[in-house]
Amino acid sequence: MRGVNTDDTLVATLKQALADPRRPDVILATGDLVQDEMPAGYERFRDLTGNLGLPVYCLPGNHDAPSLMREVLSQPPFQFCGVARHGDWSLVLLNTFASNDDGGLLAPQELEFLERTLVSSRSGHCLIALHHQPVPMGSRWLDGVALRNAGEFLTICDRHAHVRGIVWGHVHQASDRERQGVRLMSTPSTCSQFKPASDRFALDTRPPGYRWLDLHADGRIDTSVVWVE
Ligand SMILES: [Fe+2]
Repeated sequence: MRGVNTDDTLVATLKQALADPRRPDVILATGDLVQDEMPAGYERFRDLTGNLGLPVYCLPGNHDAPSLMREVLSQPPFQFCGVARHGDWSLVLLNTFASNDDGGLLAPQELEFLERTLVSSRSGHCLIALHHQPVPMGSRWLDGVALRNAGEFLTICDRHAHVRGIVWGHVHQASDRERQGVRLMSTPSTCSQFKPASDRFALDTRPPGYRWLDLHADGRIDTSVVWVE
């Protein structure tokens, strides 16, 4: 893709993340795993990540084919959307795929699922993962393909004080801010990156990357982005 062998960069990213002395417990893949609507791409992802002894949580992006993705990536260690619980934490994996739209949408049943899950997980902490950004990135072309009903999404989040963080993919760049006590984070791509604050599509020169998330029992999130040189 655009001169990058995305298989090579994914392998290099995995290799570096797995060699981290902190040892990962989980892989969280926030969408756009494949762009050709063929099962082979998902099968390749399954072969690369399915025997690492780690759960692999997946959710679809605008370039995915959600039904194919669900077919290949539903059996353990994979989970396609839904909720995963780890100690005091619930990881809520949302589907924002919208047909024929590079922007995202949370369907009514997905919003209901979020509300229901947040009500039932009140005694712990929640990290919500989705593909599309629910807040502006300050980049005109990217903000035109954001989460279309971000207002509805954030209204639900605002009702639940145990939502500690929201993390997304899609924007191919790192960002980290806070909104009403909730950590909002984007994660770089395992292939090429987009130039931050650009009004038009433009590539950045940054290498592949990933975000490390450390979820503490008291609800704190330690996080950093690692660039794969
Ligand atoms: Fe995307």
